[in-house]
Amino acid sequence: IMHLNTNYENLEQSYLFSTVAKKVNEFISKKPDKKVIRLGIGDVTLPLCKAVVDALHKAVDEMGVQATFRGYGPEQGYDFLCEAVQKYYKSHNVELDLDEIFISDGAKSDLGNILDLFAQDNTVLVPDPVYPVYVDTNIMAGRKVIYADANGENCFLPGVNKEIKADLIYICSPNNPTGAVYNKEQLKEWVDYARECGAVILFDSAYECFISDENLPRSIYEIEGAKECAIEFCSLSKTAGFTGTRCGYTIVPKALGKLNKMWLRRQTTKFNGVPYIVQRAAEAVFTDEGQKEIKENIGYYKENAKVISETLKRCNIWHVGGKHSPYIWLRCPNNMKSWEFFDYLLENAQVVGTPGSGFGRNGEGYFRLTSFGSRENTIEAMKRFEKLFK
Ligand code: MLT
Repeated sequence: IMHLNTNYENLEQSYLFSTVAKKVNEFISKKPDKKVIRLGIGDVTLPLCKAVVDALHKAVDEMGVQATFRGYGPEQGYDFLCEAVQKYYKSHNVELDLDEIFISDGAKSDLGNILDLFAQDNTVLVPDPVYPVYVDTNIMAGRKVIYADANGENCFLPGVNKEIKADLIYICSPNNPTGAVYNKEQLKEWVDYARECGAVILFDSAYECFISDENLPRSIYEIEGAKECAIEFCSLSKTAGFTGTRCGYTIVPKALGKLNKMWLRRQTTKFNGVPYIVQRAAEAVFTDEGQKEIKENIGYYKENAKVISETLKRCNIWHVGGKHSPYIWLRCPNNMKSWEFFDYLLENAQVVGTPGSGFGRNGEGYFRLTSFGSRENTIEAMKRFEKLFK
């Protein structure tokens, strides 16, 4: 008789962003005349930049011509894109071999899929609050998850606690949901700790392009020794507006031993690779023109973050993030709980954010806003905010 994976019973009933979307849709169906502004899920709103669109058109044309048509591609990505990623890392002084770079359909999938390589009895350390995917994917596999407290006292950047023994350690910097960023010294402590206890760090760098201080690390491999203990996940979703186009890359250094070959084996078996046309679009992101254009878009979102942050300041609402990150993490006004504030804001201002408690126990009483909206909507949302709280 078939047995179900009962670990699923240990998950929250639905994925955080699905719950938020459901609540918003219920509100809209009750009050269809209200204009709801969504600053909840971190989904981009600016269109793909010109360099990317041109590359897409060109690749589509190639696919329609016998001489340049492509069928199955290499599961780990075409060399032209791996080379572009390699060059990008080199610009941050990180040397990678081509066969350490794996092209994927985004960080979320790979962060979940990588767990195929690890035994079930590994203990997993995640910060709290945390991007829910790290926790949920491990619960699905029945792994023990322990938490490192991130809170106002440590500026939402938990440090190493040598008393704790972990085998897999998740780090996201710039952080989702708090926007906090580790500096090199702080990351070095994690790298040293991982090497000491034989752990692997799963480093999510999906928001690296928002870093505007040259001294802050964009990649964990800027830290000495990291190649021996860390896998890095990055994505073009936020960097270049690929949330709907789908392309990312995962770095599995050969210095990690068997893991590099195991990941290749896993991907060639369970993944068909990213479509050729999308990989050509991704390649265009790394050209000089593409880099210039995406920087303009990132600058636009950063300006939105400033609009949000300045409004919160005027309302005397405590907040962090928004500087090296698209997320602003605020304390709910009037001591409201996260979901209470979510409902209050939706009802009274028709502004949608993400309740901090959805990211973990330490997120209770906090709330996340994203700067990925349009300028017009961000300004309008903040006007409504100010009316309620100033
Ligand atoms: C978020 O809002 O946290 C992100 O958009 C989720 C994701 O990238 O999957």
